[in-house]
Order: sequence, then C-alpha cells, then structure tokens
Amino acid sequence: TIHQASARAHTNIALIKYWGKKDQQLILPMNGSLSLTLDHFYTDTTVVFDSSLKADQFWLDDQRQSATKISRFLDLVRQRSEQKTFAKVKSYNHVPNAAGLASSASAFAALALAASQAAGLNLSRQALSRLARRGSGSATRSIYGGFAEWLPGTTDKDSYAIPLQEKVDWDIEMIAVIINRQQKKISSRQGMERVVETSPYYPAWVKSTQADLLKAKKAIQAHDLILLGELAESNALRMHALNLSARPPFSYFEPQSLVAMRLVEKLRTRGICCYYTLDAGPNVKVLCAHKDSQIIKETLQSVFAPDQLIEAFPGPGVQLINE
Ligand code: DP6
Repeated sequence: TIHQASARAHTNIALIKYWGKKDQQLILPMNGSLSLTLDHFYTDTTVVFDSSLKADQFWLDDQRQSATKISRFLDLVRQRSEQKTFAKVKSYNHVPNAAGLASSASAFAALALAASQAAGLNLSRQALSRLARRGSGSATRSIYGGFAEWLPGTTDKDSYAIPLQEKVDWDIEMIAVIINRQQKKISSRQGMERVVETSPYYPAWVKSTQADLLKAKKAIQAHDLILLGELAESNALRMHALNLSARPPFSYFEPQSLVAMRLVEKLRTRGICCYYTLDAGPNVKVLCAHKDSQIIKETLQSVFAPDQLIEAFPGPGVQLINE
C-alpha cells in the first residue's frame, strides 16, 4: 500500500537570531528568535510511504542523496503514527539561480507537513512547528508566513513558533546579495556549538538578544522599519562577533560581504532606509522598503552583477500542494 502527500514551505531569514542550543537532541534554543518568511525561496517535498520499500530514500532535485538525516526525522513521524513502512522523499528547491540560499528551514518545514499528512496525522500548526524543529531549529519558524517568533521553551512541548504578523500589510522586503553559492565551511550546527562552549561573550549574547527580541516585536507592531532594521543589523553583528570570539575562531564573512555591508551603510548616510543581516554564510540580506529597492539595487550594482541581487517579499506559511 501507498500513502503520499506533498507540501511547500518557504525559507525564513532571522532578524533576531537563533545561535546556540541548550539541548542538542531536542533542538531547544538558548534564546527566542524572530524571522521573516520570504516568498521567493521555497522547497516542495513529496513523501510516499510504500510497504514495498526496503529502506528510506531521499532525492533532492532528482539526485539521490544520503537518507540518514531524513530517516531519523521520519522515525519521529513513524513513532507518532500507525505508519511504520519506509518512505521515498522527493524534494525540489526553488531558489532563483541556485543562489546558495537553499535552507534547512524550508526543507524540514515542508518535510514535517508532507510526512505527517502522508502518515495519516493531521497535526496542528503548533505540533507541526515542534516537529519541524527536530529537523532543524530554523524550520520551527517556517511553518508560519510573515513575521514569526520562536518561543525557546524548556521542553519538547513548549518550544515552537507563533505567528506575529502572517499578512505583512506594510512596505517591507529583502534584497539578497549572492556572494558565494558554495556550501558553508562550518555548518550552523557546528558553529553554534563551538560558540556556546568557547565564547566568553555567550552569556551577554543571550541577555542582549532577549532584550532585542522584545524591542523588535514592538517595532513590527508599530511598522517601524528603522527601529527593526537597527535591531536586526546589530543583532546579526553580535552573532558574528561570537564567532570571532570562539576558540578556534571562525567567520562567515568574505571580503565581498564587507563590501556589501559598507554600501548599505553608505546608502544610509544618504538618507535611504536599509539594513543588513548575515547568517551562516557570506551572503548579505538587505532589509528595506520596496519604494527604495530600485535605488538600493542600483548602488549595489556598482559592484555586484544584476544576477547576484534577488528581491524577495514576505511569503506564506507551509501548505499542502498537489504534487
Ligand atoms: C544563523 O537552523 O541551520 O540561520 O538547528 O542546528 O539545524 P540547526 O541550525 P539552523 O541554524 C540557523 C542559524 C541562523 C540563525 C537563524 O536562522 O535564526
């Protein structure tokens, strides 16, 4: 017998970052985080539980991959359901120009919905968020569209995301500056673990990030792009400062990342409202209003090629699709 379902999830970019776990097994974060889900980058995943299979299979963009991580995740679904057979998982990443922005966030959010549905579970969005979290922390937030907050919690039960503003009815967008399409040198999992263990600044990060998060929520409520941008940029820089202060130290910045950051700062001195954030890689994401995106892109194009710049708008939460 065959049971299948397909789902689409969009990636999200954290404005207040998750960078450190208090429980590696359950993926419980040290602090809460806040993100914007984007429309332009998403993953479509089909899960087929098939009693004739002898092992789980994973295909990404029609290429066979190791199924180890996926299998461990599917085990969680099998534990929670009547479905005990192996599954074939087929995923497609929809990322313009293979931008190196494919993320574990959209991957595990789509897998959580497709696998749970195919297994006959009809999970609430809160339960989906908790399940997605077990695959990758950032996936916790991709269940929701627009602005979402991940409540850190203290157990498996109370660590999940909530929507803050699913329909974003004010002018906000992100321009991704694609600096490098390569895989990151140090995975976020390894990077954050090293930082928690070795950075003397880690306790200050947790404390200041909790304060940033409260202010960022107020900024979103007030549609205050300046305040939100200032908080996001400063929070990202503090996250990257942790990496520089780890032992051994590391950094995701490349020379071109700094070039993009300086250009954004220069635009601000000309009165244009734009702010940057960076994750576990060299690409720079610029937070701005659509009314200013043309001038910002023109300025960035003094250094970067047009196909290195991708505009993205607030996107929707995870949904079932017809495969
Ligand atoms: C810098 O969610 O990729 O993007 O939970 O170990 O899978 P794991 O890590 P992951 O880390 C994301 C880190 C970040 C910040 C963020 O998305 O909040």
